[in-house]
Amino acid sequence: MTTTLVTGASGQIGSALVDQLLAQSQTVRRATSRTPTQPGEVQLNLATGEGLVAAFTGVDQLFLMCPPGHANQHELLIPAIDAAKIAGVRKVVLLSAMGANADDSIPLRRAELHLERSGLAWNVIRPNWFMQNFHTFWLHGIQTEGQIFLPVGAAKGSFIDTRDIAAVAAKLLSSDDFVNAAHDLTGSESLDHTQVAAILSRAAGRTIGYTDIPEEAMRQGLLGAGLPTDYTEFLLVILGAFKAGFAERITDGVQRITGKAPIRFEQYAQDFAERWR
Ligand SMILES: NC(=O)c1ccc[n+]([C@@H]2O[C@H](COP(=O)([O-])OP(=O)(O)OC[C@H]3O[C@@H](n4cnc5c(N)ncnc54)[C@H](OP(=O)(O)O)[C@@H]3O)[C@@H](O)[C@H]2O)c1
Repeated sequence: MTTTLVTGASGQIGSALVDQLLAQSQTVRRATSRTPTQPGEVQLNLATGEGLVAAFTGVDQLFLMCPPGHANQHELLIPAIDAAKIAGVRKVVLLSAMGANADDSIPLRRAELHLERSGLAWNVIRPNWFMQNFHTFWLHGIQTEGQIFLPVGAAKGSFIDTRDIAAVAAKLLSSDDFVNAAHDLTGSESLDHTQVAAILSRAAGRTIGYTDIPEEAMRQGLLGAGLPTDYTEFLLVILGAFKAGFAERITDGVQRITGKAPIRFEQYAQDFAERWR
C-alpha cells in the first residue's frame, strides 16, 4: 500500500487532500509543526527542519508546501526535497504559485528547479490566487467596513478554489499520468474585485464593496496586522503582478487532470456565505 506524507495537513488544501487520499485507500501521514495529538500525525517543522528524517522514513510519496508567512520559501523546501530523496521517497508533488516561474531567482522557482533536477518523480502545481482568501486574509475589511481593500485596480484574476487544488494533488498522487511536469491551475473565469464583491454580496445577503487602495496603505495594513517586513514586501510584489494583469490567464489544468470543471466563484461564495454574514 502507498504511504503518502501530507504537509500542511490541517490547512485548506492539505485537509481536503488527506480526505481524498484516504478515500483512495492510501496510508496517509499528516505532518504538523505542533505536538501530534492524533494517530497518523507526525511532527515536522519545515521552518527549522526538525523532524524531517523521522517524518519521511517509510514514505513513498510527499505533498510538499511551504507554510504561509515565509518569503524565503526555498530555504524551507530544498532541505525537505533533499531529505525526501535520502529517505527513498519516490514522488514529490510541490505546491508552488502561478507566476513563480517568471524568473529563476524567485524563491519558489528555486525550489521547483531543485525538485525537477533531484532525480525524484515530480510534479509542480502552480495555483492562481485562492478564492478562499476572501474569507481568510481579506475577511477583516469585509467584516468591519463591508469592503475588500486591495491595491489591484480593475485587474482581473482567475481565482481557484482550494478544493480543486486538493483534487489535482490527489490525482497526481494516485497515478503517473501527468508525472514530471508543472501545471498552472486556475478557475474557469476571470473576475475583477468589483465583480467578486457583487457575487459575495448576493451570497451573503449584504452589501460588500471593493476599494482600490494605494500600495502604501496596503503595506501599513499588513505590517499593522503583524506580518513580517519581508513577507509584507513579498505580498506587495505579487499584488503588483496581479494589478499588472498577470493573474488573469485561464488554464485548463483542473479539467485536464481531474476530469472535472473548476468550481465557479458563485459556488464558492454560496458554500462559504456564512463567513460574510
Ligand atoms: N493564498 C493564495 O492565494 C495562494 C496562491 C498560490 C499559492 N499559495 C500557497 O498556498 C500555501 C498555503 O496553503 P493553505 O491555504 O492550504 O495553507 P493554510 O490553510 O494556511 O495552512 C497552513 C498549514 O501550514 C502548516 N504549518 C504552519 N507552520 C508550519 C511549519 N513551521 N512547518 C510545517 N508546517 C507548518 C499548518 O499546520 P500546523 O499548524 O499543524 O503545523 C497548516 O496546516 C502557501 O504555500 C502559499 O504560498 C497561496
